Amino acid sequence: MGRRAVAERAERLADEVQGPIEGLTYDELAAFTEPRLVTGLPGPKASAVIEADSRVTSPSLPRAYPLAPSRGAGSVVEDVDGNVFLDFNAAIAVCSTGHAHPKVVAAIQRQAELLLHYSASDFYLPIYAELCARLDEIEPVPGDARSFLTNSGTEAVEAAIKLARATTKRQYVIAFLGAFHGRSYGSVTLTASNAKYHEGFGPLLPGVLHAPFGADDTDRYIENVIFKRLVKPNEIAAIVVEPVQGEGGYRIPPDGWLTYLRELCTEHGILLVADEVQSGMGRTGRMWAVQHWGVEPDIVLAGKGIASGMPLGDMIARADLMTWPTGAHGSTYGGNPVACAAALATIDLIEGELAANAANLGGVLLDGLTLRAGDSTIRLSPPLVMNRDQAATGLRILEEACAEVSGTGPS
Ligand SMILES: Cc1ncc(COP(=O)(O)O)c(C=O)c1O
Repeated sequence: MGRRAVAERAERLADEVQGPIEGLTYDELAAFTEPRLVTGLPGPKASAVIEADSRVTSPSLPRAYPLAPSRGAGSVVEDVDGNVFLDFNAAIAVCSTGHAHPKVVAAIQRQAELLLHYSASDFYLPIYAELCARLDEIEPVPGDARSFLTNSGTEAVEAAIKLARATTKRQYVIAFLGAFHGRSYGSVTLTASNAKYHEGFGPLLPGVLHAPFGADDTDRYIENVIFKRLVKPNEIAAIVVEPVQGEGGYRIPPDGWLTYLRELCTEHGILLVADEVQSGMGRTGRMWAVQHWGVEPDIVLAGKGIASGMPLGDMIARADLMTWPTGAHGSTYGGNPVACAAALATIDLIEGELAANAANLGGVLLDGLTLRAGDSTIRLSPPLVMNRDQAATGLRILEEACAEVSGTGPS
């Protein structure tokens, strides 16, 4: 079936069919440009899932809304009741190549049939080194780089804290208010987006200081307050920064600020760590957000979109910094071969076309939004494969929803 015919069938189905859509192909599901709701939300099956879940899962899981997905294709998700949604969060900025991109799925299947797992910490896994070499081609750090692969973003952050302390022989780390770096002990100490992440867990990692994010050069909080009153710069191992804050409200720093941090770090022998777990892998229209300002970090952290949904993270560091000895750090699953295969396919797709699509579509979305940032920010992180019709529908629905809750539109 041609593209047009697929889109037409999807449109017809959106109007006509009730209940779970049997026999719908991947292309047909991906071609939806409007949601299709066949039940109230959550529907009966989703309600049953939620009820069963509520009895056996950790109540700490911060469920955003009662979505119970059963399958996804491109920018479209179908739930267990057969409701079809346009996905504007991509599983929170993870499924950047869209749901179940056929090239990613094929790479996963090929690798799964060959070898599901062998720990790269203890043995030589060819695809692990292949991925690290590929990452070295695209990373934004100066000169050659080495990678330490993890299962998640938070582990990449932990690895960076350890490497920075071990390499510089300094103890302190500076992070920023509004930042989110994860929930394990080191990363949650750097996190400063919401006090709920710390409540009841103290004492946290010692030696972490916070500064305002994006404060312009005239404030010079780091120099005037931290260096002068708290800790001398020669005791600071690293400054860890999200080039664009994610959880903090998709905050973009003023031009020049990241360059200022780079210069400050260079002057004092501090390592600049860019946490690009959320902003990296094409999400901002470039492979890495730091590339918008031409800043080269010493260490860059990747996760989320790196493997299209397979669990993978990465700490990529200047090769000359990776001098820690054998056994200093490792992981049983980090760099699992199936996740590596997904990452290789993902990087090809992002480099080939998706970063450019993100740049174009990002412009369309930004033009269509008037929304404010801050504590009341709505996060949009659509798959990078989203098309213009889907983006237009999303904008229309968001506008209608805002009008409804603000009392300026139909209820
Ligand atoms: C910037 C940033 N760093 C680190 C993390 C932690 O990643 P993970 O949830 O995979 O541990 C996140 C997750 O949202 C993130 O946005």
